[in-house]
Amino acid sequence: MHDFFIKLSIHQDMLLDRIENLKAQIAELKADNSEALEALRIKYLSKKGEITALFNEFRNVPNDQKKEFGQRLNELKALATDKINSLKEEFKAKEVVANKIDITRPAFPEEIGTRHPISLVRKEIIDIFSRLGFTLADGPEVEDDMHVFTSLNFAADHPARDMQDTFFINEDKSGDVTRNIVLRSHTSSVQSRVMKTTEPPIRIICPGRVYRNEAITARAHCFFHQIEGLYIDKNVSFADLKQVLLYFAKELFGPDTKIRLRPSYFPFTEPSAEMDVSCMLCGGEGCGFCKHTGWVEILGCGMVDPNVLELCGIDSKVYTGYAFGVGVERITNLKYMVKDLRMFSENDVRFLREFEHTH
Ligand code: PHE
Repeated sequence: MHDFFIKLSIHQDMLLDRIENLKAQIAELKADNSEALEALRIKYLSKKGEITALFNEFRNVPNDQKKEFGQRLNELKALATDKINSLKEEFKAKEVVANKIDITRPAFPEEIGTRHPISLVRKEIIDIFSRLGFTLADGPEVEDDMHVFTSLNFAADHPARDMQDTFFINEDKSGDVTRNIVLRSHTSSVQSRVMKTTEPPIRIICPGRVYRNEAITARAHCFFHQIEGLYIDKNVSFADLKQVLLYFAKELFGPDTKIRLRPSYFPFTEPSAEMDVSCMLCGGEGCGFCKHTGWVEILGCGMVDPNVLELCGIDSKVYTGYAFGVGVERITNLKYMVKDLRMFSENDVRFLREFEHTH
């Protein structure tokens, strides 16, 4: 018995010595490439490594000393792992300096982009109206039913509220239209916001993205861009609207451009019209592009319905106004003969580059 204990304690002393020795060795380790480092890992930490061997011998330590040994062994293992990791960092940093790798350099040659055709045309339209004294107004793309429909005189059962046209985010059954949240289907929502908060005269344009629940094809997309115009003052007439739109058409498509207004319907304007411009390809003679009519449609417009003025807190006995809405993709298509709407959102740089020198 006695003998056995002596043997054990000798064995333990040896183990302790080996742990201390290894600690000292590890503190001194050096490696300056990954092969040397891997050799060290194998020597100490692999299945047949020295530290792993100590763990195997741990079995023979008496129970009452297992705790202390266990701790020391774990410390040793942690020390070795940390050392190997820090050696790795060290020689990596050295390698970077030695090879003069500039880690701030971009991975690929950076291509310079171009302005998107929609941005270019949007800017052109904004510039034209700015010259006429219109200022920019903005509003959210995620809007409530109140601003998109109700205060613009849309009847409760108007088809545009239908799921086919509008993306609903939240449908509130309580009938409180400010809690029905949609992706705006037109920028006219900004109109209602501005009218509710601003005393006339109001003369604004609101450029922005709009969303409609449509299948994506060459001719329709689930999102596109509009620019809405609104002018409210005393004595604003249809003649004012027509004059502004004629100026706009000539600035955009050239001085020989003619316009015509066809009666139409929008819930928020009365009377309402759609505007055509003389075909930019044949000058009005009639060609394949204008389907031999000589005209192409470019926007919707009209006199703001007195109901809308009242719903937005403007006295319709004192003020009148006009509004118009232009589709930016539509204008871009006409100016540049883009046949497929999807080109605008695919961002193929070969397509986008074609517009580089047009402005
Ligand atoms: N908001 C209409 C649309 O999206 C366009 C429009 C704006 C028509 C202003 C008349 C007046 O189709």
